[in-house]
Amino acid sequence: MKTRVLFVDDETLVLQGLQRMLRPLRHEWDMEFVESGPLALNRLATTPFDVVVSDMRMPVMDGAQLLNEVMRRHPRTVRIILSGHADQDLVLKAVGSTHQYLNKPCDPDLLRTTVQRAALLGDSLPNEKVKSLVAQMDSLPTLPAVYREVLAELRSPDTTLARVGEIFGRDVGLTAQVLKLVNSAFFGLRRSVSGPVDAVTFLGLDTIKALVLAMHTFSQFANSELAGLSFGALQRHSLLVAGFARALARQEFTGAKAADEAFVAGLLHDAGKLLLAANFKSHYLRVATVAGEGGLAPHAVELGVFGCTHAEVGGYLLGLWGLPANVVDAITWHHRPEDSGATQLNTAMLLHVADYLAHELEPAGGRVARPALHAEVLGRLGLEGRVEAWRETCRATLGTGGAA
Ligand SMILES: [Fe+2]
Ligand SMILES: [Fe+2]
Repeated sequence: MKTRVLFVDDETLVLQGLQRMLRPLRHEWDMEFVESGPLALNRLATTPFDVVVSDMRMPVMDGAQLLNEVMRRHPRTVRIILSGHADQDLVLKAVGSTHQYLNKPCDPDLLRTTVQRAALLGDSLPNEKVKSLVAQMDSLPTLPAVYREVLAELRSPDTTLARVGEIFGRDVGLTAQVLKLVNSAFFGLRRSVSGPVDAVTFLGLDTIKALVLAMHTFSQFANSELAGLSFGALQRHSLLVAGFARALARQEFTGAKAADEAFVAGLLHDAGKLLLAANFKSHYLRVATVAGEGGLAPHAVELGVFGCTHAEVGGYLLGLWGLPANVVDAITWHHRPEDSGATQLNTAMLLHVADYLAHELEPAGGRVARPALHAEVLGRLGLEGRVEAWRETCRATLGTGGAA
C-alpha cells in the first residue's frame, strides 16, 4: 500500500516546488497539498494520512498549532515540520508534537528517507511514551544558534572550511570548551590546535560539529541539579564511548563518515539521561536508588519507571535536531541493538559494544550493574568471535587517549 502524505504550506510556490520535486515518488506515495492548517484538518477529518509535513510559519494556524491538533485528533499520523532558518524560536513549541524536523530548502532524498523512517517508527508504542515524556519536559536543551548557522553556511555552494571555522569562533565560550577538549590528552593529537579554523581544518567538520553539539548539550546541564547522576562521570564516559566507537568503526567499516558518525553517536549516546535527570528529579533519583540497591542497570530501571529509556529519549530529541539518521538510530537502539532491524553489523551494534567495553574497562564503581552484552544478536550475525578483537582495539585506544 502507498504511504499517504499531506503537505501543508501557505505559500503556493513552495507547494508547487514540492510537488515538482516529489513527482518521481508518485508510485510510492499518495500526496496531497493544502495551503493552511484548517484545510489540512478538514482533509484529515475525511481521509486518514500516514504522514503530515507542515511548514512552521503560517497565518491563522502555525505549524506547531497544527501538529498539536493533529497529535490530539489523529495520534497515529506521523508529524514532520519543514521549516525555514528564521523559525528557531517556534521549533520548541512543536517539540512535543513533532516526530521530525527538517530544514528548508530540503533535499528530496532526505525528505524521502525521513518520511519513510518516520512512517515506520510512527506507531511503535515506545515512541508514544517518549513523546508524551518529552512533551512534559520544561528544561529541554536548545540547539546552539551557531550550529544552525553552520548548517546554513554548508548549504551555500562556495563555503570553505575556514569560513565555517569563523562561524564557530563567534561563540567564544563554546569554542574555548571545544579547544580545551581537543587539546586534552583524550584526543592525543601530536600538535596543539590553536583556534576554531585550525580545529575545523585539522579534525574535520563532522567531528567538530559533534563536539560543539555535545559540549553545548552538556554545558546546558552543567549547573542544573541532576538527580542521581554525576555530570562529570557521564561526560567522561561519553568521551570514552565516543573514542571506542570511532576506533571500532574504523576497524569494521570503510570511509571517514562511518567513523565520524560512530564518534558523534558515542558522544551523545547517553544525553537522554541528562534530560530525564534534569526534568524528572524525584523519578530519576528513584532510578538511581533502585539500580544501586538492586544491582541493576539504569536503563532497565528506567523502563519500569518511565516506560522507556534514556536511549529512546535521547534518540528522539536528537532526531528533532536533525542529526543523521544513522546516529539517531544508533543512540535509540544502543541498549537493544537486536531491535534496530540490522541484518549486518551497524553503528547501533558497534555503539552497544563500545558502551559495554567502556563500562568493562573503566567501571563506574558502586553497585549499579553495567549494561550486559547482547551476545545473541552478535551470534545471529556471526560476530561473536569479533568481541575479543574489539576489546583489544578499545584497550589500545585507552592507551593512546583516544587519538583522533
Ligand atoms: Fe546508555
Ligand atoms: Fe553509556
